[in-house]
Amino acid sequence: MNAQDKPTLRWGLLSTARINRALIPAIRQSKRSQLLAVASRDRARADSYAREWDIPRAHGSYQALLDDPEVDVLYIPLPNSMHAEWTVRAAQAGKHVLCEKPLALSTAECDRIIAAAEQAGVVVAEAVMYLYHPLLRLVRQQVHNGAVGQVQLVRGSFSFPLEQPANVRWRPDLGGGSLWDVGSYPVSFIRWIAGEPQEVFGWQILSDSGVDESFVGLLRYESGTLGSFNCSFRQSVRTRVEISGTEGRLVCTQPFRIDETSTFHLFRGEQEEEIALPGPDAYVYEVEALAAAVLDGAELPVPLSGSRANVAVIETLYRSAREGLPQKIHPA
Ligand SMILES: NC(=O)c1ccc[n+]([C@@H]2O[C@H](COP(=O)([O-])OP(=O)(O)OC[C@H]3O[C@@H](n4cnc5c(N)ncnc54)[C@H](OP(=O)(O)O)[C@@H]3O)[C@@H](O)[C@H]2O)c1
Repeated sequence: MNAQDKPTLRWGLLSTARINRALIPAIRQSKRSQLLAVASRDRARADSYAREWDIPRAHGSYQALLDDPEVDVLYIPLPNSMHAEWTVRAAQAGKHVLCEKPLALSTAECDRIIAAAEQAGVVVAEAVMYLYHPLLRLVRQQVHNGAVGQVQLVRGSFSFPLEQPANVRWRPDLGGGSLWDVGSYPVSFIRWIAGEPQEVFGWQILSDSGVDESFVGLLRYESGTLGSFNCSFRQSVRTRVEISGTEGRLVCTQPFRIDETSTFHLFRGEQEEEIALPGPDAYVYEVEALAAAVLDGAELPVPLSGSRANVAVIETLYRSAREGLPQKIHPA
């Protein structure tokens, strides 16, 4: 596609996933995006979904969407085990891609995605939407400017009770598990603030279906900074991060899906300051960042190398949990 000739990106949704509900309004709010098509494995489901959401085109297979010459960018919200295959296929078909988190289930898969994107000259980005919100850049900037002194510990939690037994998150063959799902957020947050760890350690509790229903993990940095997180499908709802330093701490509630209930507070001695930044939700920023990357060549807040690094940490945490030993992170 010649970006100069085309000021608007035409989006196609690869499947009728539940999370589309967050992306559809964001694409519609975004100034340089337009929702053109949806595909489903099932023709009738694609048709009724297109009617329900007022989407102009419906395709009865994923390949048909890849073959649609008028679609510029695909949103891929498939089960985790299908991310790599369909992102590579989409890139090879010349489509830009916004792929749901986690980008893939191994660094080897990430490498295939990176190679396919480079070869096709297309933009591929992971939809780790909260990191597209400017508030996250502000938090990182404040921490790096010394707001809490020297960072000693970055902690994060993301849990919720996953009731439906048929949910794809319970399926080992589809890349289920609490760490791949909600745990990927606190892991990315710790890395967002502290960079790449040297070593990790993890413990998991397995479900009857064989995925981790709960996971706790530790990250150790050369600088002496530590990271810790927990995630679960069996605990009540909790999303929170805290950055503790030698001079203060920054506490964020509801950081992973920023909305009016999210709070960001900086504590230093007796002082408490609220960091606030109103604006659209993170999904709109995510869609606009993808449009800016494709149409203007702008840098993405999370490059593919960062998504690969997140997968490397998660992969190593799982190995640690299986073997019961801390594991070194191997640099890319
Ligand atoms: N960024 C966020 O805020 C956020 C939030 C939730 C989820 N996610 C991510 O989005 C992805 C989808 O999550 P979701 O909860 O929306 O999933 P979901 O509702 O279960 O949807 C997955 C879709 O994949 C398609 N599919 C293809 N093969 C399938 C199979 N063997 N089994 C089940 N579905 C299959 C189905 O669409 P068709 O039948 O139409 O083909 C299905 O609707 C995951 O990667 C998850 O990590 C991100």
